Amino acid sequence: MKLTQPFNCWMILATLLSCGQSTFAEYTEDPSKQEGCTIFDWNHEPAMMSAQNLSRIGAAHYCPLHSNETFQGANCTITAYGDQMFTLSDNVTSTYRASWANLVERTLSAENVTMPAPHFNDTIIATVEQTRILQPGQAGYIAFSAATFCYEGALRNCTGKVKEGTIGRFCAPIWSQRRDHTVVSGNYSVVTIDKDQVSSYPDPFKSQSRSGGVWSSEIRGDMLATGLAVSLFAVLLV
Ligand SMILES: *[C@@H]1O[C@H](CO)[C@@H](O)[C@H](O)[C@H]1NC(C)=O
Ligand SMILES: *[C@@H]1O[C@H](CO)[C@@H](O)[C@H](O)[C@H]1NC(C)=O
Ligand SMILES: *[C@@H]1O[C@H](CO)[C@@H](O)[C@H](O)[C@H]1NC(C)=O
Ligand SMILES: *[C@@H]1O[C@H](CO)[C@@H](O)[C@H](O)[C@H]1NC(C)=O
Ligand SMILES: *[C@@H]1O[C@H](CO)[C@@H](O)[C@H](O)[C@H]1NC(C)=O
Ligand SMILES: *[C@@H]1O[C@H](CO)[C@@H](O)[C@H](O)[C@H]1NC(C)=O
Ligand SMILES: *[C@@H]1O[C@H](CO)[C@@H](O)[C@H](O)[C@H]1NC(C)=O
Ligand SMILES: *[C@@H]1O[C@H](CO)[C@@H](O)[C@H](O)[C@H]1NC(C)=O
Repeated sequence: MKLTQPFNCWMILATLLSCGQSTFAEYTEDPSKQEGCTIFDWNHEPAMMSAQNLSRIGAAHYCPLHSNETFQGANCTITAYGDQMFTLSDNVTSTYRASWANLVERTLSAENVTMPAPHFNDTIIATVEQTRILQPGQAGYIAFSAATFCYEGALRNCTGKVKEGTIGRFCAPIWSQRRDHTVVSGNYSVVTIDKDQVSSYPDPFKSQSRSGGVWSSEIRGDMLATGLAVSLFAVLLV
């Protein structure tokens, strides 16, 4: 199965990782260490690919239908750019999420399994970046569905609420390192909405750029200018 879409991430030489990180809550390890399981009895099936739900990564915009009484509007460019947090998903209980990731990671590395990502991680903070077109009359935003890889096995030597022998399915984001930033594989798409709803979908990464994000020279500037042009266009012509 082909999961990796072109990312255009090579374009970005600057990353907002360091400043983006501060906006995410730190995940603290399970406080009651005696709860959980110490053995993941992997079923030895290779990694299964899965996809996480779509999450919105950009502000919604409206692309005006007409530029004026006589002319049809032009296509509008919308962009999304920021650092998004992706987490492990499992069907056991999310309470021990970080512990499950550690357990699976330890088990699979002990078996020398080559995984679709460098590690089986609980939390990945990765750069998402995309530019899409809205047609005249459309309102919408850019969304992303992260690709994950999953392993299944029985949980043993458990203490606490997890029943001995529970079959768990654990899915971690498929990530890789691109120069100075991390990317997660997945699909970008445009979700269209009613134009009256546009104001309900602000930029989810707004606080990141406000908190001192470094926009890299030309490319970033272009994209920022395009984004501003689109917003201005929308403001002036709605
Ligand atoms: C994913 O979407 C489905 C249906 O839209 C929903 O039932 C489910 O709770 C969502 N899962 C997560 C993890 O948000
Ligand atoms: C309508 O818009 C077009 C381009 O979008 C422009 O060339 C034209 O002059 C405009 N007409 C009026 C009456 O504003
Ligand atoms: C607008 O976008 C549509 C769909 O992406 C494309 O078919 C069309 O050629 C575009 N129009 C212009 C004027 O760029
Ligand atoms: C988790 O998913 C696997 C595979 O679908 C299933 O066999 C297992 O019973 C599920 N475990 C729980 C606790 O729901
Ligand atoms: C994994 O690799 C290490 C070192 O290369 C080796 O000692 C160990 O036996 C291997 N484990 C398995 C399960 O093959
Ligand atoms: C993934 O987890 C490993 C340890 O399991 C850690 O060394 C690594 O830094 C993590 N990677 C990311 C991108 O968080
Ligand atoms: C991405 O799209 C392809 C083709 O539509 C699909 O097969 C794949 O499962 C999708 N992956 C994710 C992570 O959504
Ligand atoms: C089982 O769990 C106990 C404590 O939770 C731990 O001390 C022990 O090493 C575990 N056994 C195995 C085989 O992992």
